[in-house]
Amino acid sequence: MSSSSGTTIHRSPRLMRLHESDARAIRIELATGLLASVPSIAPKFLYDALGSRLFAAITDLSEYYPTRTEAAIFRTHRNAIAAAVGEGCTLVDLGAGNCEKAASLFDALRPTRYVAIDISADYLADALDYLQFRHPALDLLGVGMDFSTTFNLPDEANVDACVVFYPGSSIGNFTPQAAEKFLRQVRLAAKGGGLLIGVDLNKPSEILEPAYDDALGVTAAFNRNMLTVANRLLGANFEVADFRHVAFFNRVESRIEMHLEAVRDASVRWPDAAANSSQDSTQESVRVFRAGERIHTENSYKYTPDNFAALLRRAGYTRITKWTDADEWFGVFWADG
Ligand code: AVI
Repeated sequence: MSSSSGTTIHRSPRLMRLHESDARAIRIELATGLLASVPSIAPKFLYDALGSRLFAAITDLSEYYPTRTEAAIFRTHRNAIAAAVGEGCTLVDLGAGNCEKAASLFDALRPTRYVAIDISADYLADALDYLQFRHPALDLLGVGMDFSTTFNLPDEANVDACVVFYPGSSIGNFTPQAAEKFLRQVRLAAKGGGLLIGVDLNKPSEILEPAYDDALGVTAAFNRNMLTVANRLLGANFEVADFRHVAFFNRVESRIEMHLEAVRDASVRWPDAAANSSQDSTQESVRVFRAGERIHTENSYKYTPDNFAALLRRAGYTRITKWTDADEWFGVFWADG
């Protein structure tokens, strides 16, 4: 933005926090998952401060092809993508993190407004300050919210038709049914705008499995870190060394599954999750994991281009364009209508 004297006016990013983490609800969610007949921990618990750094390291691994393949598609097809999306939109970035993926498209898409949404508002604050420094005239809004179960744009962010940007194949971490429901909500929230989304595609297990079980053990650390998260949030006493990382491609479900497998019998305790605070509770819960028993921690679904286009159509989109790399390892889809 320039004033009449020609000097640039620097805006300041605004930040909204839409969720207060309810510690008791989180404890109940974790305890319910651990006590179930098929024990699980929801994948959102992968992303505490250390987990987020480990995920960033995963994206640099030679085995983890999705991030660099998607970036190459955006680079190669940036003009065609810009022509489909159009210039001057409000760009709503889901799971924005450090905002770098969206920022790399600013030159092509020339958004007038950028709304960055992430579960961690603190992480967004620093990223948006830096982005505002590089783009002083851009209208920036950060929204801290958990959109993993329902998606509703806050009024402040939802003024008009917008372009929703959902890269990185995070949609693959929903079941196909949940993904369809979520994308229907996204379509309504965009008020006639569109969706630019990245999705990982089906491929041989020899490529998929090392991407989720790398030689350096970074993904193993990312997965096993969930036990330290459960210890901190639930007051549990997991020994990380009692569990190993397991990742494999389930071809019937077309998904990578990540699990934590007990390497020996492990008895895990935590204070009553329903108590108002862990200090208040006199009761304890115990779950014994027998050697070989697994805790399911993440699914990462892989689609064919046709299956993903069909999913977008079921979510209500009528016009769909896709770009892929030459090997069809990853797809970027523009959906509107
Ligand atoms: C964030 N999400 C798309 C990643 C994926 O590939 O499913 C999470 C991940 N899990 C293990 N490695 C990466």
